[in-house]
Amino acid sequence: MKKDFLWGAALSNVQAEGGYLEDGKGLNVYDTLVVTPEKGIPPMFCDTAVATDHYHHYKEDIDFMAEMGLKAYRFSVVWSRIHPLGDDEKPNEKGLAYYEDMVDYLLEKGIEPVVSLVHFDMPDHLLRTYNGFLNKKVIDFYAKHVETVVNRLKGKVKYWLTYNEINLAPYQSDLVAGAYCPDNMSKPELFVHLSINTAIAHARAVEVIKRVDPQAWVGGMIGHAPFYPLTCKSEDIIAADFKNKMHNYLPFDIMTSGQLPSYFLNYIQNRNINIKFDEKERQVILESSQKLDYLAFSYYQSSVQSSFDDITDFIELEDAILFDQRGLKNPNYTANEWGWQIDGEGLRYSLVDLYQRYHKPLFIVENGIGIDEKLVDGKVYDDERIQYYQKHIVSLKRAVEHDGVDLMGYLAWSPIDFLSSHKEIRKRYGFVYINRDFDDLLDLKRYRKKSFYWYQKVIANNGEDLSDDIHY
Ligand code: BG6
Repeated sequence: MKKDFLWGAALSNVQAEGGYLEDGKGLNVYDTLVVTPEKGIPPMFCDTAVATDHYHHYKEDIDFMAEMGLKAYRFSVVWSRIHPLGDDEKPNEKGLAYYEDMVDYLLEKGIEPVVSLVHFDMPDHLLRTYNGFLNKKVIDFYAKHVETVVNRLKGKVKYWLTYNEINLAPYQSDLVAGAYCPDNMSKPELFVHLSINTAIAHARAVEVIKRVDPQAWVGGMIGHAPFYPLTCKSEDIIAADFKNKMHNYLPFDIMTSGQLPSYFLNYIQNRNINIKFDEKERQVILESSQKLDYLAFSYYQSSVQSSFDDITDFIELEDAILFDQRGLKNPNYTANEWGWQIDGEGLRYSLVDLYQRYHKPLFIVENGIGIDEKLVDGKVYDDERIQYYQKHIVSLKRAVEHDGVDLMGYLAWSPIDFLSSHKEIRKRYGFVYINRDFDDLLDLKRYRKKSFYWYQKVIANNGEDLSDDIHY
């Protein structure tokens, strides 16, 4: 791997910080939304008041990252810590100071910060009062928020991500885009409006970042799960192709070409959906496409898609595919307890596919496995995690060294334990265990897991030696 390859890790601050209403922070959608458990999982939710107390432990947590040898660390600036309501006239100085201090500490430790600008953290007030990104006013609030943050951190932060997993906005609209689907709006309409509005929000952020700090590198980001056809029947291949376009490629197609792709326009036209997309917005999307530096994505698993034999109407069929809830499984792969299938080579497939389609530098900004773990005598033997990472790093090396993909870096999910997006502490992702239970905060002490030492070794030898001969 090239010498400046960014080996690192990533975190969503809203899931780790806690510090619920401290120092002027406002409530955000992650704090307030009622969680629907993952399919088949008993609800064991934690409140977000303390989470894993990263708010108070951030220096200690960064010390662990430095000890692991991370070259880069991705975190998110919690929107409601800076603009507690979202439509505030003035930002919260304590929030800005907090993240500036975090960046300074990272730089002091020789770790490159990678900053996400919206990650499940829209101020709750923007959801209740404006219905989030379904309302164009919220795009203005967001652009103002981005400008405030970038102004404060410019010159210190080089890598920015405009919007975490932007392609998931239409599916989990409350958490990802701060918007509920109005009663008189169909799912396809919600899909179209949110896809357009979040694309405008992304473009506005690119414009702001490049204007405030022309040296900065800006990337768009999606949650990438490639859809394979369930069988080699042409109906299933067509279904998977449609799903990949609408679910995975759409945001990057818009971000890189600067226009709405023909398959999306076709989708809109076939359903007579009226879109609000004026000339100024078209222009900002077009101009931002020329300023975009890289494309980032999370990868946890691949998925499968099949057609529906009993649906003959094409429009109905497409929508059944797009909003498919059947949870189809790939018979070739095992899964973790939450049913997330493990397909290491799917990462190589994704890298090659995205690179061929966009010819832009790629950045893996999330990859990891959630495991229910127990602390025994101060130790956690997370061999399953090591095996997961081994498979995925072997696969990305093939994509880079054999297939010639231009990959900037790899950020494991995650340096420390935190609450899952469904507010579960049982589903742990960290290299560092944090001692709390779902209903008891215990002492929140930090412990290095076995994988901590394994990843430390991988980074030290630039991904050459992935063996797990770790003394622990
Ligand atoms: C991504 C998110 O969707 O997946 C993270 O960007 C999230 O915030 C991660 O934590 C893993 O998902 P989950 O639901 O297991 O937390």
